[in-house]
Amino acid sequence: MADAVSALREALAFSPDNVPLRMHLARTLLEAGRWQEAASELREVLLRAPDRADARLAAGTAASELGDDARVVEHWWPVRDDLDPEDLRDLARAAVRSGARDRAQIAYDELLARDPALRDLELDRALRMHLVDTPAAEPEPPPPPRPARPAITFADVGGLESLKERLRMDIIYPLQRPDLFRAYGKKVGGGVLLFGPPGVGKTHLARAAAGECEASFVVVEIQQVLDMWLGESEKRLHQIFEKARDEAPTILFFDEIEAIGAARHQLRHGPGRRMVNQLLTELDGVGAANDRVLVLGATNAPWDVDPALRRPGRFDRVIFVPPPDVAARAEVLKLAFRDRPVEGLDLNAIARRTARYSGADLVHLAEVASERALSEALRSGKVRAITQSDVLASVDRVRPTTVEWLDVARRYVTYANQAGLYDDVARYLEKAAE
Ligand SMILES: Nc1ncnc2c1ncn2[C@@H]1O[C@H](COP(=O)(O)OP(=O)(O)O)[C@@H](O)[C@H]1O
Ligand SMILES: [Mg+2]
Repeated sequence: MADAVSALREALAFSPDNVPLRMHLARTLLEAGRWQEAASELREVLLRAPDRADARLAAGTAASELGDDARVVEHWWPVRDDLDPEDLRDLARAAVRSGARDRAQIAYDELLARDPALRDLELDRALRMHLVDTPAAEPEPPPPPRPARPAITFADVGGLESLKERLRMDIIYPLQRPDLFRAYGKKVGGGVLLFGPPGVGKTHLARAAAGECEASFVVVEIQQVLDMWLGESEKRLHQIFEKARDEAPTILFFDEIEAIGAARHQLRHGPGRRMVNQLLTELDGVGAANDRVLVLGATNAPWDVDPALRRPGRFDRVIFVPPPDVAARAEVLKLAFRDRPVEGLDLNAIARRTARYSGADLVHLAEVASERALSEALRSGKVRAITQSDVLASVDRVRPTTVEWLDVARRYVTYANQAGLYDDVARYLEKAAE
């Protein structure tokens, strides 16, 4: 391959105007992924033969790989009828990013005319916003999420005692006494990633952790950041981290972080990938400076989380949040009924009947039981307490929602337990099977 390239170069030294030969060299370089060199050969070709459509197409591909939006538009615009749909979409995106909005609109209309199924969320948004906003000004990004100081603490989270202890050690004490941690040579920083079935209280626990240490709590919704104006999302992420440092101590919480991995797969070019890179940069910056910002993430789908996010200094501790065990279920039920009129409830008995229920399922169960009592109260006009039979009658109407997740998890434990990531899940499943 290297031989082929040098042979072609030698031949060209003798006949620099041999366009087919130079085109051949450019193709060879493209196939080898040597984009920069291919781009410069193609420039030579186009100087001599400006009408060669195949050279334009190839030059656009090289520019696209190099992230050179202006060149993508320059080369692909005149030959866009020959582009395949994905490249036509990339042309429209490159046009948006390089400010050639009229061309972006035309290319996008042509794409949709070819196949309406090629509708693209980002382009829709970018171009529609532009149409509404006739004066060329871009829309103001909404202000970054305001840090809140959650009112709930670990006392509002039922069960999960060992997890609370772990979060104290990993998140809370390091925020409160970074000096002590450093004195003992303990690293501060890096992030904790909570994973588990939906409804087991991951988001709840993160919020409670912030309440526990009176830190600011900033929730970053990936999907929302991704949905922003092309090119705005990186700026936005940077703002969020800056704000977190200003308001320190802060817990920055990334909910449903798998959305970022998915974005990286879907978007070969463009804002998805740039945003992941921006996030990685920001994460690597946190903790390096003694800035009292700690990062927590949560996901129901750890298998979709971009592995780059789990490297040291990023989300380097991955913690399984299991469905509550019997004692924890009793605790969650106690919390769920604490502000309601009850009489003679045997929470332990209910807890025993609700294996595999998530915390959210139990809260829902309490709702259903309360409604039962309420509807009777509405009929009779008198308040009556919620009883054991209300709850037991409701158990059949609320199904545990963790079962499906656990089935999926079982497959990952068996076939894809990379680096023991799912050991805790395996232990849980073994115990649950007993
Ligand atoms: N261990 C728990 N203790 C108290 N409430 C819980 C617990 N787990 C879940 N809940 C309740 O269920 C709701 C949904 O939980 P959430 O934190 O959103 O679950 P996840 O983020 O794991 O999907 C919470 O708002 C809370 O009311
Ligand atoms: Mg959640």
